Amino acid sequence: MKLLARRTLIQAAVAAAAALTVAGAFAQAPIVIKFSHVVAPDTPKGKGALRFKELAEQRTNGRVKVEIYPNSQLYKDKEEMEALQLGSVQMLAPSLAKFGPLGVKEFEVFDLPFLFKDDAAFRGITEGPLGADLFKKLEPKGIKGLAYWDNGFHQMSANKPLHKVEDFKGLKMRIQSSKVLDAEMRALGAIPQVMAFSELYQALQSGVVDGTEGVASNFYTQKTYEVQKHMTISNHGHLAYAVIVNKKFWDGLPADIRTALEASIKDSTTYANAIAATENAQALDKIKASGKVTVYPLTPAETTEWKKALMPVHHDMESRVGKATIEAAYKATGFTAPK
Ligand code: LMR
Repeated sequence: MKLLARRTLIQAAVAAAAALTVAGAFAQAPIVIKFSHVVAPDTPKGKGALRFKELAEQRTNGRVKVEIYPNSQLYKDKEEMEALQLGSVQMLAPSLAKFGPLGVKEFEVFDLPFLFKDDAAFRGITEGPLGADLFKKLEPKGIKGLAYWDNGFHQMSANKPLHKVEDFKGLKMRIQSSKVLDAEMRALGAIPQVMAFSELYQALQSGVVDGTEGVASNFYTQKTYEVQKHMTISNHGHLAYAVIVNKKFWDGLPADIRTALEASIKDSTTYANAIAATENAQALDKIKASGKVTVYPLTPAETTEWKKALMPVHHDMESRVGKATIEAAYKATGFTAPK
């Protein structure tokens, strides 16, 4: 073979091999979903996220890779919302009390004190038209809501016993960013302080705040019960999450991938919601067993007193959350104001 012809042949072979490699790399490069959250892996949300990863990777035959970043490893509360909008992460599951700063104040309806008598009342919103309407409000922000994950009832903790409303007087209490939670603490006579979840342990330990509201699974896994002397089982509030994605990312996914991910979200939602109550009960048992904190269930008379102090928050927050949203929530939950 002539030298020139041979060289041409070699060049063509090299080009073909390179093209194959590039095509192969494209075929193999998985779609990466970065899923950031602020709690421990060993919590209802942490476990729900892990189940989603497992199902999503299995059902897309590895075409999707889910990278989970727990414990505010990547971003704190406020930053993770911004990161989602910018596309630096694709998926989050923030608490419903953290959507106000995004400009969707209606989500704070979930924070109205004593709104939910049980988990079924919570599902009345999330599985009904109000839950869907709230998700629609996220779309202009470039966010799509995929599911609601339950995490049970809020309790109170502090370095002094909290039995009566007057016990809150002057206490600095850490809250999430919701204005309804701010009004709730003020109605009890406390001084609310918005703070990122990742800063809570340190703030309690150093005395920057005196107490907080929260769920047992977070108290246990963040070890905040080690730096608080008293916990009151008040069930005055409720903690839940919205699993959300960057809308542009989601809409741009190949249809078959999106279908597989939707099914994975559906099944991980069933799982996360099914384990929440048990996980919180087990966490509470472990907190009690530690002997580090006294756990005090409110008496019916004390609950009545707390309700009396907190019910005005419902009315006061109409201008923030919207009267129609509050009424829709009452209808969905079967809530009636205590006499
Ligand atoms: C909190 O900030 O207290 C909670 O929202 C943390 C969480 O995600 O459970």
